[in-house]
Amino acid sequence: MSDDFEIARQGSKGKKNGAPCDRQDNEVAATQEPWTPASNNAIGTEAISRRGFLQGTALLAGGLAATTVPGSAAHAQEQRRAVEPVRKLPLSLTINGEHKELQVDPRISLLDLLREQLELTGTKKGCDHGQCGACTVIAGGRRINSCLSLALVHDGDSITTVEGLAKGDALHPVQTAFLENDGYQCGYCTPGQICSAVALLDEVKKGEPSYVTENLQHPGPVELSVEEIKERMSGNLCRCGAYPGIVAAVQQAYREHSQQS
Ligand code: FES
Ligand code: FES
Repeated sequence: MSDDFEIARQGSKGKKNGAPCDRQDNEVAATQEPWTPASNNAIGTEAISRRGFLQGTALLAGGLAATTVPGSAAHAQEQRRAVEPVRKLPLSLTINGEHKELQVDPRISLLDLLREQLELTGTKKGCDHGQCGACTVIAGGRRINSCLSLALVHDGDSITTVEGLAKGDALHPVQTAFLENDGYQCGYCTPGQICSAVALLDEVKKGEPSYVTENLQHPGPVELSVEEIKERMSGNLCRCGAYPGIVAAVQQAYREHSQQS
């Protein structure tokens, strides 16, 4: 299978963990100068003072972090919290058609649950702040930013990630359209773009208007103009700027979707 096919199908080039972009971090790390002990360093005195500086700032940070007075009730409570294990809670989910009974940390986001606990690493973490759309999945038929959503609030939900769109090697029409229209470059944003586009097609079919929909009285499906696509996909950013291909891919998928219905 080609790399392109794997990006569209499951969000990465056959790598189980991480993303294509992860490689860049490793390459940067490999080219960095190793640390040299102060005794071998021509500027040893500078190195010692730097170490002293770091120790000093660490102590200062520790001092600032200790906001409660030792012996006080608040301090005792803080200490208890630090040692008590977090109580996991039950969570029932259907993910890509498969029912799962899980025990989860109540603080975990849906994105981290998918990636870290369930190893569904097709869904990407870009900003972790709801700004890029790389983490888009479909929950209960709606597209959401999984980084902004606590896993526990999805108890009983049905979640679809990029891995759940294809049927074996038969790609979803939106995945095929992204392949055929060069709707990506590095592929990092692509799983989110594809999930967003899949949900978008359902939204226009149901006649849900967007900010740029002119005729709000028009019954039935919304006519998907380029302006509509840009507006409706605006929550998914692409650092590579593959936007012309993305718009063309959504147009192609929309044409095929309209012919089928
Ligand atoms: S990782 Fe969720 S919006 Fe960026
Ligand atoms: S294809 Fe690289 S970020 Fe979109």
